Amino acid sequence: MTRQPPAIDTLVEPDRVHKSVYVDPDLFELEMDRIFGHAWVYVGHESQIPNVGDYHQALIGREAVVMVRGEDGKPHVLYNRCPHKGAKLLAQPCGNAGRFLRCPFHGWNFRCDGRLLSVPAREGYEDTRFDLRDPAFSVRRVACQQSYRGFVFARLAESGPSLEEFLGDIRLTLDNFCDRAPEGEVEVAGGVFRVWQRSNWKIFFENLNDTSHPMVTHESAVNAARAEYQHRGDGGQMPFQLHIIEGNGEPYDFWAGLEMVAYDRGHSYMGAIFTPPTDPVSLGHQAALEAVHGPEKTHEILSVQRHNSIIYPSCAPHTSFQQLRVIRPVAVDRTLVEIYTFRLKGAPEDYFQRSITYANIVNSPSSNVMPDDIEVYARVQEGLATDGGDWVSLHREAGREQGDGNGRYTGGGLSELPMRNQFRAWAEYMGEEA
Ligand SMILES: [Fe+2]
Repeated sequence: MTRQPPAIDTLVEPDRVHKSVYVDPDLFELEMDRIFGHAWVYVGHESQIPNVGDYHQALIGREAVVMVRGEDGKPHVLYNRCPHKGAKLLAQPCGNAGRFLRCPFHGWNFRCDGRLLSVPAREGYEDTRFDLRDPAFSVRRVACQQSYRGFVFARLAESGPSLEEFLGDIRLTLDNFCDRAPEGEVEVAGGVFRVWQRSNWKIFFENLNDTSHPMVTHESAVNAARAEYQHRGDGGQMPFQLHIIEGNGEPYDFWAGLEMVAYDRGHSYMGAIFTPPTDPVSLGHQAALEAVHGPEKTHEILSVQRHNSIIYPSCAPHTSFQQLRVIRPVAVDRTLVEIYTFRLKGAPEDYFQRSITYANIVNSPSSNVMPDDIEVYARVQEGLATDGGDWVSLHREAGREQGDGNGRYTGGGLSELPMRNQFRAWAEYMGEEA
């Protein structure tokens, strides 16, 4: 007999959530259906599949999908399953399939948009119900897919809001991500970092806009950066590599002054921590933008300064350093996070190199910043599994946020508004009938 998960409306309150949302495997299964089966989920970026037959695999909840560049020049998001016996058509995370997708089991061939092209020994199908043109014998497409400035999202459910409606004003983060490129486009470059977290996917999302943890969680990394700076002893400007670690040690007053903005559907962003406007690398980038747009528009683009944005429930862009973190829940206590670095087309090479430096120092598995977070998430997961308490507090500055009546909410820089906002969306998704 299957155990029924607890009633959804008893789990989320305006200022606290029940621990079962992080530890109950039945609730996790329900999330896969009600959240990941209905939200627009980030699949990949079009630049990852520049040529016909290029593919990139992704997960949408439980569903293994693949984004393939078709002969029509468009990306196609397909279930990674042969309609014959069910074998996964593509095994590698990414690559080029050639002009056709060929099943490794019995050699059925498909066009890159999923349509069945040929089957071997076709005469065996004569006078059967098999029909080459029947979509049932093509690779199934996801119900909906749409790109926003090269970022490809897909939705498993047939009905729901359009991608633009789903994104709402958090799409301005993606706009700024691209507008920072002198050519107005970005491309994935420099590979991917994959990090396994021994914790529930929501813990990572909550931490992305959690401003009251860095000075505690990252204390040892901050101290090490400060010691290294002292050791150098030249008293000059702190090098970028140390600055992006040391910035985590800012006092509470600093974080309290940051912009904190949330939107309906769980999205949010926080203002930038690192503002490097006067160093030569930033000035070179600014000059490249000015050459295209002039000073006024350039100022407008660069004055949008955001640290992590949250596109709930699948990804988190960081516009200042061109990072995108993609969150794939795998089990109630296992989460895969993929970290991509982007190149701004038309920007100087050293600007891209700085993004790589940021990825290595802050976001990579060998960073001395992110492992602090990963460790603390695992401890949360383990602690929540004990009988030491039933509720998780989201009380910080609860009830103080200001709404504009149009789905935009602002709070203090230290507010737990983003977490409360995520759970409001969570409860809305989860409350819907499957
Ligand atoms: Fe952190």
